[in-house]
Amino acid sequence: MTTADLFAEPSEGEPARAALAAAQARILALRQTLQEHAYRYYVLDEPSLPDAEYDRLFQSLQALEQEFPDLVTPDSPTQRVGGQVLEGFATVRHARPMLSIRTETDTQASGAENFDARIRRELGLGTEAAEVEYVTELKFDGLAMSLRYENGFLVQAATRGDGETGEDVTQNIRTIPSIPLALTSNRSARAVPAVLEVRGEVYMRRDDFESLNERQRQRIAAGLKGEKTFVNPRNAAAGAVRQLDPGIAAQRPLSFFAYGLGDVTPPDAGGPVWQSHYEMLMALRDWGFPVAEQTACVQGASGLIAYHQRIGALRDTLPYDIDGVVYKVNSLALQSQLGFVTREPRWAVAHKYPAQEQMTVVQAIEVQVGRTGKLTPVAKLQPVFVGGVTVTNATLHNEDEARRKDVRVGDTVVVRRAGDVIPEVVSVVLEKRLHEAPWFTMPHQCPVCDSLAVREEGEADYRCTGGLFCSAQRKQAMLHFAQRRAMDIEDLGDKLVDQLVDAGLVQSLPDLYRLELATLAPLERMAEKSAQNVLASLARSKSTTLPRFLFGLGIRHVGEATAKDLARHFGSLDALMAASVDQLLQVRDVGPVVAHSLRTFFDQPHNREVVEQLRACGVHWAEGPPTPGANLPLAGKTYVLTGTLPTLSREQAKEMLEAAGAKVAGSVSKKTHGVIAGAEAGSKLEKALALGIPVLDEAGLMALVQSEGGDSDGST
Ligand code: IVH
Repeated sequence: MTTADLFAEPSEGEPARAALAAAQARILALRQTLQEHAYRYYVLDEPSLPDAEYDRLFQSLQALEQEFPDLVTPDSPTQRVGGQVLEGFATVRHARPMLSIRTETDTQASGAENFDARIRRELGLGTEAAEVEYVTELKFDGLAMSLRYENGFLVQAATRGDGETGEDVTQNIRTIPSIPLALTSNRSARAVPAVLEVRGEVYMRRDDFESLNERQRQRIAAGLKGEKTFVNPRNAAAGAVRQLDPGIAAQRPLSFFAYGLGDVTPPDAGGPVWQSHYEMLMALRDWGFPVAEQTACVQGASGLIAYHQRIGALRDTLPYDIDGVVYKVNSLALQSQLGFVTREPRWAVAHKYPAQEQMTVVQAIEVQVGRTGKLTPVAKLQPVFVGGVTVTNATLHNEDEARRKDVRVGDTVVVRRAGDVIPEVVSVVLEKRLHEAPWFTMPHQCPVCDSLAVREEGEADYRCTGGLFCSAQRKQAMLHFAQRRAMDIEDLGDKLVDQLVDAGLVQSLPDLYRLELATLAPLERMAEKSAQNVLASLARSKSTTLPRFLFGLGIRHVGEATAKDLARHFGSLDALMAASVDQLLQVRDVGPVVAHSLRTFFDQPHNREVVEQLRACGVHWAEGPPTPGANLPLAGKTYVLTGTLPTLSREQAKEMLEAAGAKVAGSVSKKTHGVIAGAEAGSKLEKALALGIPVLDEAGLMALVQSEGGDSDGST
């Protein structure tokens, strides 16, 4: 069946029964397509449909189900969010206890050796015996979850609790898109067992955590009561899982990885037979569960050590937090031979990584100049090994932060390095302060170009006013332009930019495209071949997209997402450059600050000149028709508000809907797409129910306006 078939309407005049059967067939086909796509997206990490296409299929399914409500089943992808606000969670007795794992405290390679030695001893293996095979996994930093499937359908999700009894959080867990509501045996030789309890970790990705906190900050700033930001992804995930309102839980983006089993139909009742833990994990993956791709099979202590080191090195590039790795004896026969000590299996261990915090001494405080002239105080540290790398610099963010932490030269400080963020100074160890160095003060001149540095009212940062006269800003602007997400000039690194700017070979962005072999080849660390590579990557970069080009220009407040929205809205660069502040404000997510920044940028003749010269050098992209408003998620939709919402005023709710592109109407008609109803809603709600128009509460409204419309590729 093709996508077109999925949209085919039944022919006119078909009898009702046939129409129902046809609808059912289409509904099943749509669900299967959506489920398969979710599998590729969440489990294989190989998306097979553009998001916009997925949304289109999803909406067709929603429309059909609305037309034929009898055909709605709980496992439909449209039925993830639902249910009522709970008073509390019911208690669940685990069919099999949820165990914990012993932690190996020795964070060095010897930690892995200790575990292997213990296993060999307990299995009575002599020095001559073959290596033990282990499964090595990540130790996810979230919370343990037990998912119970009966006849392939998710029937219950429970937290670990004390291991014997946990809490029933099914409603919230159903909203996690990577958790299948229904299992399929399509990809596996094995049938899904009648009872299957999958154990795994619910966690929050770091980027999802950041955007959740960003949203929370906006809600706090908007004066919404009872909102807070979260300290780390694990706390945010735990809070979301224990949300009593499933509507709110649905807005907290959670993910899931499977790593084990609970209760399963036994082999003598037709259940699966597995020889190894790894084999079992692969079956779970085939049935639809995400299993981390780093999961591996290794031999003996040397295999464990190599895994520990490999994951340690890539830990910061993972999109989520881990706090170590887990080693498990692979053979299930050996696992049962080893058995348990109290609540911990003897066949598994968690092996942690060294702390992310260390103490060291501040040798100096320097001030660095960023792309937009921002001056950042940076502590120069006595080199220290933190979380797997040697750190020599830690940011102090700005003058206020440096003073708040009262960091002075000579101080002993605690340095933290988490994720792929820049190391930062957490605090000063005051007991170790030997002498009182003077307070840190921000220079009032740029340390690079001597221009005046000013701190605007209400801003935390000092900025160099030198603009592109300042070589530090010029260098950063070039690196920004060249980065992978902008013009993607592969071979233009910071060392080369330093040389080009310092030697006066490149003054502005267009100069990059005027470089010649004869200029490049004699530079330090360059040779004919590498110079040719630079020229080739420059030439390749000329063929680009409008969003990449716009982002690359480094206009203040214009990030990648805004650049895409602008490109789509205006279609061409000339239309964008000609737009007034009012016209700019029509673009999704563009507020006064961004609009003003864009206008100021394009009002400067010098910036227009840069753009023209870049075009003259051959930088080009395809331009499309302008599609104003089309990228707003609710463009073309009409909603009606009625009753009193718990936290939002009528005006706030209206603004939110309009900001997402929707129209807000005063009365309900067949053309209404949805009704947002609060307490004491009256006739409008009745009419909506009579007409079968979807009714949402406040949480539903929040979810609606936050649903991302549009696609995410870089095209215009
Ligand atoms: S196995 C039979 N594997 O760590 C042992 N646990 O104390 C059952 N965790 O809170 C756990 N990643 O949620 C296992 N790959 C992994 C894990 C993992 C994280 C968590 C688990 C529990 C704690 C174990």
